[in-house]
Amino acid sequence: MKVFSPAKINIYLEVVRRRPDGYHELRTIMVPLAFGDEIAMEARPSGVSLLAPGCGCEVDRNLAYRAARLFFDRTAIRYGVSITIEKRIPVGAGLGGGSSNAASVLLAMNELFHAGLDTQVLAALAGELGADCPFFIYRRPMLLGSRGDVPICEVDLEDRAYLIVIPPFGIPTAQIFSKLRLPLTSEPGRIKIEKTSDRCIVPEHWVVNDLESVACTLYPELTVIKGELLSSGALKAGMSGSGSAVFGIFQTEAHLCSAMSRLTRHEGYSYIPTTRLTGDIYGDYRGQGFSGKG
Ligand code: C5P
Repeated sequence: MKVFSPAKINIYLEVVRRRPDGYHELRTIMVPLAFGDEIAMEARPSGVSLLAPGCGCEVDRNLAYRAARLFFDRTAIRYGVSITIEKRIPVGAGLGGGSSNAASVLLAMNELFHAGLDTQVLAALAGELGADCPFFIYRRPMLLGSRGDVPICEVDLEDRAYLIVIPPFGIPTAQIFSKLRLPLTSEPGRIKIEKTSDRCIVPEHWVVNDLESVACTLYPELTVIKGELLSSGALKAGMSGSGSAVFGIFQTEAHLCSAMSRLTRHEGYSYIPTTRLTGDIYGDYRGQGFSGKG
């Protein structure tokens, strides 16, 4: 079975407060991209094997491996699985690569072993693996709260074209959160989207990231990239998650194409254009794995 494991961007990321458990309460709009990894999975008589060149961590710390172990631990299924990940989403980019791989493994194993776990159960399992994981079970643009793991509502986005710029370095999420200084009097829940009946948003109006100033202070290259995106014609530019990826929003694909011809390309950086945010991410894979939208 082959499954697609999409990247995401956070169009909006508001840090509401620090929580007693060490995490931070967030309000975030996450959007799945048509860009991502491919995962091949096969049932085996026993054991979990993982081949994931480019993941850069020990096998038993890899979230995809841990997802497979968790799945077998929590179901009565006594089998094994082999997982091969063709990695395109870089580690530490704020694009959710590891979290997406974990959720995709859970979704695929649910089908492969006919486990019949519903979306809620899969999302709860995913939440044990990391705060970003449940979103990749749902795989639709949505506003999330809590640690970024609890859906508040789905959103639609007006059509735009996006250019994702991935620097040659990653940023550890915990580093950015640990350096964040929150104002003593925070204004909880600045976002009002859950109160509006019209859930179709103009994405460039929502580009906010409370982690960006910390990341840009530590990695000034990010400010340079944002500036270049804006001067090439982006309506808005922002950082995804805790970085290091930065995205620019363009009115149309044509605007994005002409911006790409003007843009200064830095060595080692990847420039990934995408116009497809959702829906289509299942298209190529429907019938080969997923039967529905999560
Ligand atoms: O859940 P995950 O392992 O991806 O989170 C990595 C780290 O990022 C956490 O250990 C925590 O330091 C920080 N984090 C946070 N608040 C969140 C999500 C992540 O403080 N909502």
